[in-house]
Amino acid sequence: MRSPSDTVNEIFLNSGAAPYLFDSPCALMIGGNSLGLLPLLVYPEDERRDSFEPTRLVKRLAPVTHKFDALILGAGAAGLLCAFEAGKRGRRVAVLERADRIGKKILISGGGRCNFTNLRCRPENFLSANEHFAKSALARYTPSDFIALVEKHRIPYHEKTLGQLFCDRSAQDITNMLEAECRDAGAQIFLNANIQEVLRTTEFVVRSDAAEFRTPVLVIATGGLSIPKIGATPQGYDLARQFGLKIVKTRPALVPLVLPKKEQSIYSDLAGVSTGVAVSADHQSFREQLLFTHRGLSGPAILQISSYWQKGTPLHIDLAPDREVTSSIREAKTRNMSAARAALVGVLPRRFAERWLDLHVPNSWTNQDLEKLEREVHDWTLVPADTEGYEKAEVTAGGVDTDELSSKTMESGKVRGLFFIGEVVDVTGHLGGFNFQWAWASAAAAGRAL
Ligand code: FDA
Repeated sequence: MRSPSDTVNEIFLNSGAAPYLFDSPCALMIGGNSLGLLPLLVYPEDERRDSFEPTRLVKRLAPVTHKFDALILGAGAAGLLCAFEAGKRGRRVAVLERADRIGKKILISGGGRCNFTNLRCRPENFLSANEHFAKSALARYTPSDFIALVEKHRIPYHEKTLGQLFCDRSAQDITNMLEAECRDAGAQIFLNANIQEVLRTTEFVVRSDAAEFRTPVLVIATGGLSIPKIGATPQGYDLARQFGLKIVKTRPALVPLVLPKKEQSIYSDLAGVSTGVAVSADHQSFREQLLFTHRGLSGPAILQISSYWQKGTPLHIDLAPDREVTSSIREAKTRNMSAARAALVGVLPRRFAERWLDLHVPNSWTNQDLEKLEREVHDWTLVPADTEGYEKAEVTAGGVDTDELSSKTMESGKVRGLFFIGEVVDVTGHLGGFNFQWAWASAAAAGRAL
């Protein structure tokens, strides 16, 4: 049976004017004032407000060239905010998104509730080869700016802990808000845009398999490499290299760690057990929860330290921060394993306390041996085998070298008109809403400069 889309496509094909096949008859209605060469791209001003929907590029029949003041690659957190910031300033902006919907990572963030910013955002919450780079953008677009936007859209939210703000309902509220802002600013979004090549002549030429776009300003907002199954690609880094920009080596960050096989066999049955610790590596320390997994360690403390951990180096874990564990053993009538077990169960989950003690039995119960035990409790040293990789990482550390970019505008110093924003840049936030705050802040910096 013929679908309405088939009929629409046939009319277009017969007219000889259509550069695309459409997957929805609505496409014809939205662009219905123009059966010429730009059917989908020109939304009549009065129809934009009510009928805005991202355009799906389906299949190219003949190349057609579209011109914009600015083109943004990637309709994620940074790309969408940049698009409406620039749109509000009167720029004709288009966003090309490879996936079939916008903001997929936003939708899965914060357990589906999107931890969209952090009230305690400071430059110290970010890693970068240049620790000063993020300061300017973060100062000019603060958590309050984003909260104002969230409140303008009447999105209910709450502070969970440590300044972390989450949606009360769902992360979809955030993508709806970004889409609405793009609509109001006249920024256009193209889904299923499979970019084949990007060239620079007198302007940038971006070829997707469905169309060609020309623009004097190109913004790369393609994000990092984490969670490839929802569409992460290395294209942002490839484009940086293509244009001669340096890349700081990328690595998975905010990622669970895998223990060597021997430790896995000891601890894997504790999967699901968690305890409060202070974990340190590379002169950084985080005091949060540690969670055992089947293959190793996770939980906020481990995710945080994973961004600093280098393969082959140890993690130092204080299992009882600010607490003295062995004093009750000293004071016990008899110093023995049951007194030690009782002491450790007072600070650690029982199964873990018993397992850990079995592996750290003191030689005897002298004061010296108890001091050694106390030291070991506060410095459990493990050398993880690896991270769980990009499949499980929340973000990618490293990226486009900040030496190549203006900290005020995110524009490349080498290639005029080329901008990089969001996670593709070598700026990585701590866990807790900081990565979105960087996406918003870097996007605003670029959007205001386009
Ligand atoms: P983002 O990944 O959002 O967007 C990039 C877009 O570009 C995507 O839509 C992608 O499909 C598109 N794209 C990629 N390649 C392309 C190409 N070649 N052509 C066209 N489009 C292309 N952060 C935080 O602050 N709070 C949180 O709660 C969470 N939670 C969280 C959970 C999980 C499971 C993950 C994986 C990550 C988080 N994060 C987070 C991190 C946060 O999601 C991330 O830092 C931001 O989304 C980065 O925003 P960007 O816009 O830079 O990339």
